[in-house]
Order: sequence, then structure tokens, then C-alpha cells
Amino acid sequence: MKNLVIALIFFGFVIGAGAMATAATLPIVPAPQQWEPAGGVCDLSQLARIVVDVDDEQWRELEAQSAPWLGPVLGQEPGPGHLLITRDTDLPDDQYRLEVRPSGITLTAGTPTGAFSGLMTLTQLSLHGASIPCGLITDSPRFGWRGMLLDCGRHFMPVPLIKEVLDALALHKFNVLHWHLTEDQGWRLEVPGLPGLTETAAWRTGPDGQRVGGFYTTEDVREIVAYAAERHITVVPEIEMPGHTVAVLAAYPELSCSGGPFDVETQWGIHPDIFCAGNDEVFAFLEKVLTHVMDLFPSTYIHLGGDEAPKERWQVCDRCQARMRDEGLANEAELQSWFIGRMEKFLASHGRQIIGWDEILEGGLVENSGGATIQSWRGTDGAIAAARAGHDAIVSPTSHAYFDYDPGVLDVQQVHGFNPVPEELDESEARHILGGEMNLWTEYIPPERLPRLIAPRMAAMAEALWTGTNEDEFPTFLARLEQHQPVWDHLGWTPGAAARPVTISGRYDIEAGQHKLRFELDERLRAVFAGDELVIRHQEFARADYPDHRPEVWPDEQSPAVVNAESDIAPEELSRPCSPGEPAVLHLAQLFVRGQAYGAPALAEWNPHLALGRPVTLADPASSRYPGGSVGWLVDGQRGGPSFRGEHWAGFEGVGLNATVDLGQITEVNHLSVRFLQDANSWIFLPTEVRFAWSEDGTDWHELPAITHALPDKEQRKVIQGFAVAAGGIKARYVRIQGLNREICPDWHPGKGLPCWVFADELVVR
Ligand code: ACM
Ligand code: ZN
Repeated sequence: MKNLVIALIFFGFVIGAGAMATAATLPIVPAPQQWEPAGGVCDLSQLARIVVDVDDEQWRELEAQSAPWLGPVLGQEPGPGHLLITRDTDLPDDQYRLEVRPSGITLTAGTPTGAFSGLMTLTQLSLHGASIPCGLITDSPRFGWRGMLLDCGRHFMPVPLIKEVLDALALHKFNVLHWHLTEDQGWRLEVPGLPGLTETAAWRTGPDGQRVGGFYTTEDVREIVAYAAERHITVVPEIEMPGHTVAVLAAYPELSCSGGPFDVETQWGIHPDIFCAGNDEVFAFLEKVLTHVMDLFPSTYIHLGGDEAPKERWQVCDRCQARMRDEGLANEAELQSWFIGRMEKFLASHGRQIIGWDEILEGGLVENSGGATIQSWRGTDGAIAAARAGHDAIVSPTSHAYFDYDPGVLDVQQVHGFNPVPEELDESEARHILGGEMNLWTEYIPPERLPRLIAPRMAAMAEALWTGTNEDEFPTFLARLEQHQPVWDHLGWTPGAAARPVTISGRYDIEAGQHKLRFELDERLRAVFAGDELVIRHQEFARADYPDHRPEVWPDEQSPAVVNAESDIAPEELSRPCSPGEPAVLHLAQLFVRGQAYGAPALAEWNPHLALGRPVTLADPASSRYPGGSVGWLVDGQRGGPSFRGEHWAGFEGVGLNATVDLGQITEVNHLSVRFLQDANSWIFLPTEVRFAWSEDGTDWHELPAITHALPDKEQRKVIQGFAVAAGGIKARYVRIQGLNREICPDWHPGKGLPCWVFADELVVR
């Protein structure tokens, strides 16, 4: 621990003496905009409690609002000084000045919200000890909208956990909780007069057949909204329409096009049954729900969803088609715009504004009083289009903001580098970018996993949205993140991995008959940990003994070190003699920083077979967007895992796999197999047919029996399926393998008619 502190002080000094802003040397996340140190310290325990010097009800509430945060440290042994809160109406909204002197503290702001941000700064400082450094902090947010989406539809999140989330948000100066309350898998809001919502729509059948789910009562919601308000956080409710509504249709099937019946969904995905746009009962139902929502939530903004609504039911529904004729709508995309526009008018007539996912741009935005705010998630195109059309936008692209993704895919550095303002926008357009959100979708995240996915990445997002992006500040951010443990402790949270800092790459050295394993530390982290004791430890597991691609056992401090250096970790290669036919092995590597495991372990499979390292030719190239697209992936001895990103899969868009391997000499072959992935939500389907062929000379080919499969294209789970044939001792030099792409997404799919993908990995020859 002592070493850690010394390293950080040293690091801080280096940064302070350099060109970077000295604000980054304070142990605060997000970093304040400006910090002028004055020398000396102020002992918070010697200050009398807070004095609010503003004659205004809302300002006086700051005293009670600060109690949970500063109560435990302020005024333990009160001396003459105090924490004075004052108003300066010249300060812009949300800006604050915190002047810390040995004898007392003055916090000045233009609004109570600005003052509350100052109190959070003070709280973070106090978590490192009652004595805080003297000086002047001048601070204000880069973006006014700093949010988090919490999906409570897939997994019901208990009220106490939501309060913990609100505490975490407040401490990191977020000001919006985007509460995703309705989903195909569960409706969470009690609404008077609609008992089916809480009796039916709130419950799904769990994997063991049990009833799982829950809902928030009116009292629960009021409690959460009030708790958030005490932390200057606005709760923006999201009521999804017209799609992601199977749960409500299970309770009220008459609101669908077909009439049902339906069960609350048990699978994540995009489901075709949505609200009927031709049925006026739907709008009466939604107005009833939204009237209650407006009663519960003071937020000006109400989120209406609008994403991922397949139009196949509308295409064959007489009422929807009649609506299109009556309203002069050219197609179903315009019908969706009309639907959202109708609800927007209803809310606008009550003084509220809507937010919708970027899909609501597709049928043209319906203009009226307020205008919709667009939340851009499929990249930033939605934000660009919205801003250019004069609409506001909130930016939360999958590339930076989807915290349900593994930290190996979306790590703290990627999040920290997030800039919600797309480069394409000019200054006047950029003013429409309100800010950003981190999105936590919870199909695979039960309540107990939630904190590990939010922390530590929320700290990086806080800095991107409050301080503003500056890539040069990443090392100082990581240094502050290292010091951030008291904040996580205060929340009672154990943060998850910040990144996957080590990669293992495997290679077969054909000449030497050796498997070479290369361990590499992420280049970006090398500078960050310069001077620290770094060790990469490695452990092998028999494939059969290890749960499929779920690292539940990984290297610990007793595992052998492959790389051990005081500072600079050079890539290291281990060599293992190997021959085809040996049992498969899994290699795991874990980085230890000063004896502590850091980040997620790296995992690589080794699955030796006859085609290892042999030349492969492809009739159609693999997409360069996925790592498996590089040469040799098909026969590298490592197999793709359940995620198509960041692993060994090669993707083929619109075409299939058509690969020929040269075994180098005539070889006896008894077994051929290959694996494909289906992830229908990501437009990836199993091939319609898999064909194997062999040849002695590369000219004269012999076909083996083709293989099909019985997996429906509607299967929502990710499925890895092997296709194997017994080859019966053929004598082959060349082996050809084809996986036929169905070429376009099926009619039920949101990508209907567009090219779909085949993902393949590892052709195994034995
Ligand atoms: C979304 O991720 N469907 C907004
Ligand atoms: Zn309909």
C-alpha cells in the first residue's frame, strides 16, 4: 500500500510539473476544470457544519442534501471555521467555485445544482481523509446531459440497488437516470386501472420454470424520484413503443395486430409483435399510461423508445394499412413516425418533450411544438442527422457507451476517449448535442453483477461528459482511478475489470513442431504502469476441465510467471512442443500490478490438428472488420468463443465460407469438422449447408456428404454449431470446405432483404 501511495505521489508530481492541467493531480473523478493549489490543508473535522448564506428554500435544502455525504466527516471536533455556501448569480448554470483555506471553505455557485456538484467534489476529497488540500477549484460541466440508462425490464432491479446507482451517479456528477421501464421481457410500472401490467406483464418464466420479475409500485417510484432529486438527478422514464412490447401484449393481446395470444418473452432479441398502429385503443391505453407517468415523473423529457420495431405485422394488418391510407402515409416507416408523432403531440399538450432512439428518424421526424430529441445509439449518424435538422441529440453509441459489453471489448480507455460531438458537425450544429449516456442493458446482468459492469467504466464516462475529452489525460485519469478505491468502498461496490490488458496469441511453428505462445501487455497501458512491478502469470487447463469460455478459474499469485519485470514488460514467447492429435488445452494469462490482479484474464485455446499452420486460400475474402479475417485464422488451433467480436471468428458478409487448405503432402484423414456461429440479433446465421471435399492433386475433387442443420433462423440465443464428417481414411493433400450463406436476412428480421453474415472458425483435420 505504501508503495502504491509513493508511486502515485511521484506520478502526480511528474504530471504537475509538466504541461498538463494541475487539476488532474487532485484525486477527483471527473477531474475539475481548474485547480490552483495554495499550500496547506483544511481539516474538515474542525469545521462547524454547513452554513447556507442564501435566503431561498431550494438553497437551504442543500444542508440536508449534504448530510449523507459530508455528515460523517464535518464538525467532529468543531472549531471556529465553517463550510459556507453562497450564491453568485453571475456564475453560469452548474458552475461552482470551491475555495479551501486552512480556516474554512467557501462554496460559491449560481444554482443549487452547481453547489451540489461542489459538495460532491468535497465528498470525494473527504473520502481520502479529513485533511484536504487548500486552493481554489473552478469547475463546470462540458455537457449538460450526463446520463445512465438502466434497463430494469430484462432484469428487475430492487429499489435499494437503484439507490446505490443514484449514489454512484451523484458522486461522479451525472445528472440523469434514464430508467428503462418496459421491455419484451417485463413491464415494471404499476398503473392504476391496468391490473394486467402487474399481474401478467411484470413476470416471465425463468430458466427453471419459475416465475421471475417484479414491478415498481407508485410509492417505489415516488421514493426513487425523490431520492434522485435530493442528488440533483432527473429520472427520465422510458416507455417503449411501438416495439419491445411483447410483455404488455401478453396482458392486453387486443393491442397487437394479430390478437395474440402471447407470453412475456424469455429471450433477448427483436420481436415482431408490436402495438397495432391502426387501433385507437392502443392510443387510449398509452395516454392512460403516460398520464400516470407524467404524474409520477417531473422530468420535462419522457423517452418513448421507438427502436427495433419490425414492421412485418403492420404490413399484413388491415387496420394498420387503413391507417396508412387515411393518413396519407407512404410506408410503414412513415406509420411509425406518425405513431410517435401522435404521442409526442399528446405529451407536448401537457408541456412535456419526447426523446426517441435514432430509429424514429427513419420515417421522417414529425414536427410540432417541442420537437423530438434523438438518442443516437447506432453510431453517431442519428445525432448528426438530428442536429442538422435542428433537433437536439443525446449520444450513446455502442462503440463507447454500451456497458453491457465485456471490458475486453469496451475498456476504460475507449470510454474515456468518448466525445459525444461528432466531428462532422459545425459549431452551430454541435450546440444540439446535449451530452451522452452510458447504457446498461441487463438481459445477462442480474442485480448482483450490476456494480461490476458500471464500475470502473462509469468513472471514465464521467470524465468524458463532465471534464471533456482529452486523450492526453488518460494516464492521469488511470492514476486517479487507482486512488478511487475509497469511493467504490463508500458505495460498497467491487469494481469489475477496467480492461483486458494482456493478449495471448498462438502460432504453430511447422518446422520446429512447436506451439508458440506470445504474451503481450496492452501497449497503451505500458506507459501508465511504467515503474510498477508487473507480472503476467500463466496457467494451462485441459480443455475438458474448463467451462466453455467462461473464465471462472484463472491464474493466481501461485501461477507461474511468464513475464516478470520491474518496469517495461517485453512481449514474451513460450514454446511448447506439440503434435497433431494431442488433447486441447486452454491458456489463461492474468496481469498482476504490485501483486494485485489487474483487469480481465486473457484466454487462448490450443487445439492441435493436422491442418495447423497450413496455407489456406479463400474464394471470397473474409471481412477485415473482424480479427479472424487475417490469414491463417482457419487453421491456427484456436477456436472462436460465443462473442463474434474480439475473438477468432472470421465473418463473411453476403457470401459464404469457401476455403481450401493445402496439407503439404498426401495425408490420411479420418475426420473433418468446422464450427459456425449463429447470432441472429447481429445478422449472423448458420450456413444453409456445409460441404466438404478432398483432392490428391487440387484438380480432381471428391465430395463428402453435405450437412445441413435444424436450427431455426429465429433462434435468439447465440449458438456455436460444429459440422463434422467421418472421412474414413481418405488420402488427401487438399481439403475444401464451404459454408453456404443464406445471403439475405429472412423476412421476419429487421435486416429483411439485406446481406447477412456467416461466421466460421477452425477447420479441424484429424
Ligand atoms: C438499443 O440498444 N436498442 C437502443
Ligand atoms: Zn395493426
